[in-house]
Amino acid sequence: MASEETLIVDCDTGIDDALALLYLLGDPGVRIGAVTTVFGNTDPGTAALNTLRVLELVGRSDIPVAVGAEHNRRGSRHLAPDVHGADGLGNTDLPAPRTSPIAEPAAELIVRMARENPGTVHLLAVGPLTNLAAALQLEPELPRLVKHVTIMGGAMLHPGNVTPVAEANISNDPEAARIVLRAGWPVTLVPLDATMTEAITEEQRRRLAEFGSPVTTFTAAILDLYLDFYAQHAFGERKAACHDPLAAAIAVGDVEPLLAPVVPVDVETGDGPARGMTIADLRGQYRGFPESGAAAVRVVLETDRAFGDRLVDRLCSDVPNLGAA
Ligand code: RIB
Ligand code: CA
Repeated sequence: MASEETLIVDCDTGIDDALALLYLLGDPGVRIGAVTTVFGNTDPGTAALNTLRVLELVGRSDIPVAVGAEHNRRGSRHLAPDVHGADGLGNTDLPAPRTSPIAEPAAELIVRMARENPGTVHLLAVGPLTNLAAALQLEPELPRLVKHVTIMGGAMLHPGNVTPVAEANISNDPEAARIVLRAGWPVTLVPLDATMTEAITEEQRRRLAEFGSPVTTFTAAILDLYLDFYAQHAFGERKAACHDPLAAAIAVGDVEPLLAPVVPVDVETGDGPARGMTIADLRGQYRGFPESGAAAVRVVLETDRAFGDRLVDRLCSDVPNLGAA
């Protein structure tokens, strides 16, 4: 990660969001300026409490957490208790955190921090894009103030995970996704094409449990339900996709994608069966960009499939706060 860069993580914490935060917090070279929460895996208030729990676990309660959108731009939402548990953390029913979210709303925090730190804020969005779209509405200059936006979302050649063609973060607010992709800032999109091939396995979960630090005990516990879900609905064995931690690792430059063309990407916002579909014009690699109005986005299609081990190595590392108790 570039030394002057500050991350704002916008998330719907969530099991894999929690893993992404811990992955980042395990690198002393990564500066997280704030975490903002949005509906998605759970409601944004619960996502904020879960974020505060994670921060407390690693002694980083100094990082402000701001609550954002309760629902999408149409006033609806779809939560995912079947994937992430009723509490968003695998039904682990952890005690309430000692700290509270700040009063400032998520979108306002994003705008304020971007204004205060022009050219150095990197937005890492791993939930529905409602907060980012709201921030763009508050400050039309935001694309000039922000250095980069990395988004976990979309499904290009891979099937969707909530509909045959739509991925959860985009499907939860397609209108917001279209606004964010078209805003004219540099965007890296990390879709299911990459994240579904980067798995964490039951064997790795056991390694975390056996390591026995507060952080690895926590991660092994929250992964239990997540691995069940993926075994039943996706992989037929106990392993799960590393969606948000992979996007985090790409954002800070730890994972260098093997295939990541810059191509036009658009989002279907109609009400038919394709609602929430992300359409990447991969012909652009060969034919140049058509005049479609779609934004040119760097789309990560392939990584080296070794991230599960890197994630577990990081969580079992002797970095202060993550190491054995
Ligand atoms: O589709 C996967 C994404 O949806 C991840 O960000 C997960 O945490 C959920 O938000
Ligand atoms: Ca997420």
